[in-house]
Amino acid sequence: MFPTTLLTTLLLVLSVAANPVLVDRSPVTLQLSRRLNLTSVHNLVRHDQARAKALKAKGTVKHDSRAVINEQVDNQAVTYIASVGVGSPATTYDLLIDTGSSNTWIGASKAYVKTSTSTQTSNKVSVTYGSGSFSGTEYTDQVALASGLVISKQSIGVASTASGFSGVDGILGIGPVDLTRGTLSPATTTLVPTVTDNLFSQGTISANEIGISFEPTMASEALNGELTWGGTDSSKFTGSITWVPITSTSPASLYWGINQSVRYGPSTTILSTTAGIVDTGESTFLPNANITRADCCLNIGTTLVLLATDGYNRYKSATGAVLDSATGLLRITSTQFSNLQSLFFTAGGTTFELTANAQLWPRSLNSDIGGTSGRIYLIVNDLGSNSGQGLDFINGYAFLERFYSVFDTTNKRVGLATSPFTTSTTN
Ligand SMILES: *[C@@H]1O[C@H](CO)[C@@H](O)[C@H](O)[C@H]1NC(C)=O
Ligand SMILES: *[C@@H]1O[C@H](CO)[C@@H](O)[C@H](O)[C@H]1NC(C)=O
Ligand SMILES: *[C@@H]1O[C@H](CO)[C@@H](O)[C@H](O)[C@H]1NC(C)=O
Repeated sequence: MFPTTLLTTLLLVLSVAANPVLVDRSPVTLQLSRRLNLTSVHNLVRHDQARAKALKAKGTVKHDSRAVINEQVDNQAVTYIASVGVGSPATTYDLLIDTGSSNTWIGASKAYVKTSTSTQTSNKVSVTYGSGSFSGTEYTDQVALASGLVISKQSIGVASTASGFSGVDGILGIGPVDLTRGTLSPATTTLVPTVTDNLFSQGTISANEIGISFEPTMASEALNGELTWGGTDSSKFTGSITWVPITSTSPASLYWGINQSVRYGPSTTILSTTAGIVDTGESTFLPNANITRADCCLNIGTTLVLLATDGYNRYKSATGAVLDSATGLLRITSTQFSNLQSLFFTAGGTTFELTANAQLWPRSLNSDIGGTSGRIYLIVNDLGSNSGQGLDFINGYAFLERFYSVFDTTNKRVGLATSPFTTSTTN
């Protein structure tokens, strides 16, 4: 165990600029910025590993069975938040944007304000995340994602109890709708349509897909994200989008999972083609998992690029990196950095190059994770288990800040494209 040191809270405040350019049935874009809240050393790595473990656990438990996650993680690292209006007149709630779960719910902090558009259903709702849990009653209500972008009769959970969510009011779950299975009681086979499903079925957007752009963060505060419902924002990517089918390998297949291989430099195989996930999400969904508060953790989002332990070890020896005990990240010398090769991710027949610079933790944020200024830390880390288990990598924010991503529900595929930030040297 490493000592836990309290750090200054680092906050990348996340606000949504609620000024989408709204053309009927056209993609709708919301700007996001990022909230980075690191309060203790090692949280980043422990947090990401716990998330990986929880994501894998979901695939191994039946919806009515139990899993135990024994991972102590005590802080969230990175969150993207949207301000969403519920009801008419609307009350505004700050919700975590999550592609790793699919229920939308409110009431963790601010109480639900019922209005004439509120309709209580006969269902109870309960979801357990790696980051906590909530339970309450399912309602339908009007939800405004931005002024002018309004969904009528959106199914939302209203929490009567919630734990593990500080500073937010709930979750905007934009993962695959299948992840809502088993969340309502009495048990129903009916899935709970997501916000994206309803935008599509109500004709507000013409494609059931989401495009996401994140940008590398150099400062502790930045407006650096954008979420587009119903299409893509061509100003945020370069070249064409490579479409990668959702993998058939479980448990990655439950999420935005793809087959991918990873190579270091011209010829060092890090991972042969295997399944893993593209994770923009903030929370881990574990229906009915047996997680107690003592076991568990805040476990929100994957900040790093995580590789199965065998792949991580190959990367470590290829780069010559050492594990830094203060941060839990790999560390290299400046000589090793000048020799650092690109890491190549091949998916859907296209190879995406994560440059040497893109493999660095932003050096201006070293002290925020308990590191030493001037040192060079890497964002590739250990998933915590060996490959061959159906979820062998997570392309987290450090990857997604370099490549544009698209989550296409209709065609069950993930899109990836290079972006203006793919080769930037901001770190
Ligand atoms: C940052 O994290 C700490 C500890 O988890 C929490 O108490 C605090 O409310 C968080 N701050 C924000 C702005 O989310
Ligand atoms: C992904 O890899 C698995 C295991 O090799 C293979 O069965 C599957 O056909 C591949 N492609 C997809 C889309 O799942
Ligand atoms: C949850 O786990 C604890 C300890 O692992 C066990 O004692 C308890 O019976 C479990 N509860 C359920 C409902 O499975």
